[in-house]
Amino acid sequence: MLTGAQHLQNIHPLVIHFPIAFLMGAALFYFAAWVFKKDDFAKTGFRALLLGALSLAAAVGTGLYAEDGVMVALDVRQKLLLPHKQFMIATAVLCAFVTLWALVRRPFPKKGRILFLALLLLMVITMVIGADFGGQLVYDYNAGGNACPQPVHFKGRLGPRQRGG
Ligand code: HEM
Repeated sequence: MLTGAQHLQNIHPLVIHFPIAFLMGAALFYFAAWVFKKDDFAKTGFRALLLGALSLAAAVGTGLYAEDGVMVALDVRQKLLLPHKQFMIATAVLCAFVTLWALVRRPFPKKGRILFLALLLLMVITMVIGADFGGQLVYDYNAGGNACPQPVHFKGRLGPRQRGG
């Protein structure tokens, strides 16, 4: 196996970047289709949304699998893992809704288009906030890795200074 991958406690980090990229790309192309009135952009947005929804399902699945086994202190679990999970489940609900809507009125719903775009934007914002909690888990508390011994207790919300940035 690859040396870096051997240090992972689960495969969640290998999967998560696909929904982040595809769903952001989908939103970008749908907004471009709306602004420039180009059907081709909407078709690309639709395909990216489908790929995003599929990879999001894999990310949620691997995340739920990782949740029980990942070695983090209980306070970190409460303050970071729980909100991470909640934001990601909210992202998945929004994604399922917009994907079904786009499938029924493919590639880009005409009726309620502004609401469709607003929900896409909300989905991306929810995902970014959720991913930031995930990033803190990994880069501040070594969740899922072997860089330092567990448990690392919660230190409050860290600003750039405390993080050494
Ligand atoms: C809803 C169920 C989910 C749970 C329970 C969950 C759980 C976790 C856990 C335990 C970690 C720490 C690293 C690890 O052990 O793998 C983590 C990291 C992370 N997760 Fe999730 N996750 C979920 C969904 C998602 C989804 C859907 C995404 C992306 C769209 C995501 C993005 C991330 C990111 C960006 C990190 C930081 C990893 C890194 O930067 O390498 N998670 N998550």
